[in-house]
Amino acid sequence: MATYQEFIQQNEDRDGVRFSWNLWPSSRLEATRLVVPVSCLFTPLKERPDLPPVQYEPVLCSRANCKAVLNPLCQVDYRAKIWACNFCFQRNPFPPSYAGISDVNQPAELMPQFSTIEYIVQRGPSNPLIFLYVVDTCLEEEDLQALKESLQMSLSLLPPNALVGLITFGRMVQVHELSCEGIAKSYVFRGTKELSSKQIQEMLGLTNPAASGPQGRPVAPQDPAVTCRFLQPVHKVDMNLTDLLGELQRDPWPVPQGKRPLRSTGIALSIAVGVLEGTFPNTGARVMMFTGGPPTQGPGMVVGDELKTPIRSWHDITKDNARHLKKATKYYEALANRAAVNGHSIDIYACALDQTGLLEMKCLSNLTGGHIAMGDSFNTSLFKQTFQRVFSKDYNGEFRMAFGGTLEVKTSRELKVSGAIGPCVSLNAKGPCISENEVGVGGTTQWKICSLSPSTTLALYFEVVNQHNAPIPQGGRGAVQFVTQYQHSNTQRRIRVTTVARNWADAQSQIQHIESSFDQEASAVIMARLGVFRAESEEGPDVLRWLDRQLIRLCQKFGQFNKDDPTSFKLSESLSLYPQFMFHLRRSPFLQVFNNSPDECSYYRHHFVQQDLTQSLIMIQPILYSYSFHGPPEPVLLDSGSILPDRILLMDTFFQLVIYHGETIAQWRKAGYQEQPEYENFKHLLVAPVDDAQEILQTRFPMPRYIDTEHGGSQARFLLSKVNPSQTHNNLYSWGQETGAPILTDDVSLQVFMDHLKKLAVSSAA
Ligand SMILES: *[C@@H]1O[C@H](CO)[C@@H](O)[C@H](O)[C@H]1NC(C)=O
Ligand SMILES: *[C@@H]1O[C@H](CO)[C@@H](O)[C@H](O)[C@H]1NC(C)=O
Ligand SMILES: *[C@@H]1O[C@H](CO)[C@@H](O)[C@H](O)[C@H]1NC(C)=O
Ligand SMILES: [Zn+2]
Repeated sequence: MATYQEFIQQNEDRDGVRFSWNLWPSSRLEATRLVVPVSCLFTPLKERPDLPPVQYEPVLCSRANCKAVLNPLCQVDYRAKIWACNFCFQRNPFPPSYAGISDVNQPAELMPQFSTIEYIVQRGPSNPLIFLYVVDTCLEEEDLQALKESLQMSLSLLPPNALVGLITFGRMVQVHELSCEGIAKSYVFRGTKELSSKQIQEMLGLTNPAASGPQGRPVAPQDPAVTCRFLQPVHKVDMNLTDLLGELQRDPWPVPQGKRPLRSTGIALSIAVGVLEGTFPNTGARVMMFTGGPPTQGPGMVVGDELKTPIRSWHDITKDNARHLKKATKYYEALANRAAVNGHSIDIYACALDQTGLLEMKCLSNLTGGHIAMGDSFNTSLFKQTFQRVFSKDYNGEFRMAFGGTLEVKTSRELKVSGAIGPCVSLNAKGPCISENEVGVGGTTQWKICSLSPSTTLALYFEVVNQHNAPIPQGGRGAVQFVTQYQHSNTQRRIRVTTVARNWADAQSQIQHIESSFDQEASAVIMARLGVFRAESEEGPDVLRWLDRQLIRLCQKFGQFNKDDPTSFKLSESLSLYPQFMFHLRRSPFLQVFNNSPDECSYYRHHFVQQDLTQSLIMIQPILYSYSFHGPPEPVLLDSGSILPDRILLMDTFFQLVIYHGETIAQWRKAGYQEQPEYENFKHLLVAPVDDAQEILQTRFPMPRYIDTEHGGSQARFLLSKVNPSQTHNNLYSWGQETGAPILTDDVSLQVFMDHLKKLAVSSAA
């Protein structure tokens, strides 16, 4: 058999799935003793150039509360034309169109290589994609100019039949009519008055005649006559919209000395949500909001307009001194839920030097699968490139965005699903597979994911429910089926089905097998998501303590040691990297919030809970490469010992790319050796990390911040805050006394961390 490494890689490539354990403990009790739950990272739309979709509908199990999709794990009686569902054991006849099947003439969905298969279904009308721009005009001239250019450019990137709309806001909110004839008109709303969805639709003349129509003629909400004026096909209005964007002016209301501009972000967003709700429910749509500062009036305001009152800090929040925080958060949460119900996603592009209220607004994007991009100004390549990459295309020339997704998870009887963590909301779908122990967003077997990219990844948590005294027969397998329905960017409805199985193992006699089936990378990310999810509602130290406790228990369970002898402690290869991931996670901005503003923290967490495994691991433990005259570039330890005078380092944290020139290199660079022909190899050495950084800058979404620094430079802190402080003397530590649970109170080195971990793991008192 292949090694577990190979097995894990194959499964990820084929099915987009990484499980924490690849052998499953056969009872509930044994499962809880493994500390890390049976769980997985699942990338529903993982790019599969080798997987052409089939042009028919999936065959479903006929049992009403099952409806699992026919898959390679089902037993088939070709003679009787019957298949047995591997989830509920129901025997189902094949539909008439399968009359010709035999064991040498199988439909694709029964072949083992199609454990993941995609169906194109032709149900209902195909809807165009919708892009509604919501643009803040309280910007500096330079920012507004740059933003206008980016928006104009984006029109050429949209699919020609997509519908596009424009709302602008400052003190007032303007909804622009993109009429096909005559003079451009707009509807103006006050930025302070909350309006219901119905009021907004009435004021804009969007009332659906189906509800009140005098002739009683039912009119589809998509009726172009109803919507024409605000959402128009790009190919019809792109010239005029380009002009309209070009003519946008900064908000005309004067801003007195000492004041912030009045910015009606809350109302602008509620109008955007209301317009789409009234016209295109359950259609793929993106609200794209561009803002240059915090909401300062009306519902959803984050800070008042007095400049002398700064926007809330962590300090204010911990002191319960952030006046608008709860109310604003609640307001945006309600909007986010309305958008999510209709399958509409909301992006936030926030560019400003100060905070803009991402903390309060983040749920708009995290519940609807929207993007958040954050930069200092709209006139930066960071914003421009990031925004352009929203419209990037795949190997087929199709947009890397899908809409209106639902993910349904089905499990075999010994397993139930506890919940999901990722850019999704619950659909409250009840069924036999739901665990009572909720983890993340639980109590359902279906989640809505309003917008998905090929890297969108959910963490799913399971519970083994089989009782200890009723063992699963040897050789049995547990199965999970993921059914993802979505609207492809080419407007087709598609269903992707992934069915996977793992063997059950008796944790008493086969614990070593279970141990070697551990996927430490996936587990680190899965546990980190749980930590980040908890951190949204619990105090930071409590979350760290919880993570520490899990780590210590895992080490107690799987470490080899003599009681009370820390020097004897060893972990097998399949767990050897795990403590180090936890060490870096504890120091990461996802859990150490005080080094970053509340907005930055929200931004980091937003991306962390939806990226795929590779990107998530970089976020937990950044990658460091070294460039020197001593050999080719090589990865080096993320450790202060790696910082040497004659090295250049390139660090990738996902959010930042840092090039750091060691002391000697920096001196040579200052002296200009690279300009002299006889030092050409030095010039090459300087260029190499820049070239490598470029490669990453050109593909990553969102585009990372690029930092060029050197020994003693003020930006060197980006590197210094990430490396393991192995060479500092700052090795003070203490373990929390009150609860008896350990917590490191200072920034200790990995060595000190490991020493303590070993001590606690081997302790007979623990
Ligand atoms: C944007 O920045 C570039 C380079 O920094 C500058 O040349 C340009 O004038 C700026 N654009 C505007 C509209 O100010
Ligand atoms: C575009 O604007 C011109 C005038 O500038 C107008 O005559 C024309 O009808 C407009 N077309 C659309 C599609 O709005
Ligand atoms: C999304 O935001 C809400 C509220 O702002 C928060 O409670 C929730 O934990 C966030 N979800 C994730 C997955 O970050
Ligand atoms: Zn079934």
